[in-house]
Amino acid sequence: MTRPIVSLRDVRKRFGDHEVLRGVDLDVDDGSITVVIGPSGCGKSVLVKHVIGLLRPDAGTIQIDGEDIVAMGESRLTEVRKKFGMLFQQSALFDSMSVLENVIFPLVEHRRLPFRKMREMALSRLEQLGLTHVERKFPAELSGGMRKRVGLARATILDPKIVIYDEPMTGLDPIMCENVEDMILTAQRELRVTSLVVSHDMASTFRMADRIAMLFDGRIRVQGTSDQVQASPDEMVRKFIYLSGTGPLETEATA
Ligand SMILES: Nc1ncnc2c1ncn2[C@@H]1O[C@H](COP(=O)(O)OP(=O)(O)OP(=O)(O)O)[C@@H](O)[C@H]1O
Ligand SMILES: [Mg+2]
Repeated sequence: MTRPIVSLRDVRKRFGDHEVLRGVDLDVDDGSITVVIGPSGCGKSVLVKHVIGLLRPDAGTIQIDGEDIVAMGESRLTEVRKKFGMLFQQSALFDSMSVLENVIFPLVEHRRLPFRKMREMALSRLEQLGLTHVERKFPAELSGGMRKRVGLARATILDPKIVIYDEPMTGLDPIMCENVEDMILTAQRELRVTSLVVSHDMASTFRMADRIAMLFDGRIRVQGTSDQVQASPDEMVRKFIYLSGTGPLETEATA
């Protein structure tokens, strides 16, 4: 098995008197697709923001590619962040920039390429995501699903080693969901990209995840392969999967 490229140990985070992360241990294997599931508000977005160093834990260690980022200074952290692409839950596009400018932005920041080349790369990524003839539009003129896909194009334009997707399927129609799923799988197969995905879509989670981790009550309640998680005897896990609309719930008779 490959070594973890992301490794969290006993990560804790509190906001005021609300302790959201209460000792999270999580490993993401290099080249894997790892999906984090869990109820709304349990801290999934908070968790992935720790992985790219946007939030600092109160306690615990976070290693990226063997480097501890918790004690790291801002300039080194900026370097480490270049390994990542991140699709935020709220696409976080620049409203005053056109679609093309949004997608090109990371290239302008990090690559020295002729504008024509960058434009070509951006348009091709947009096309791959089913977005043609929108490059001159502004985010406010797009539907939620289109904005999400523009965010996805921007998050992956630098071909990062690790991509974090915070609910990439939410708000997309079934065909677009499949496209996004394909994109995550293709990135893994062809570019050896590691994906850390937060998802509420259990069907696609079971299809694409090498590993699933369920966050509940501030800790990882269960983790394993799709089969292992689906076979979990934990009643709470089974209920969560069942209520999410997939997987058979063969509840044991508890009389
Ligand atoms: N910057 C912040 N300051 C204070 N509280 C925060 C902050 N960010 C998140 N929280 C709180 O942490 C908890 C977890 O939030 P988070 O957004 O991680 O949930 P989630 O699991 O991603 O939910 P969802 O599935 O709805 O996206 C919530 O109670 C939220 O209010
Ligand atoms: Mg969230």
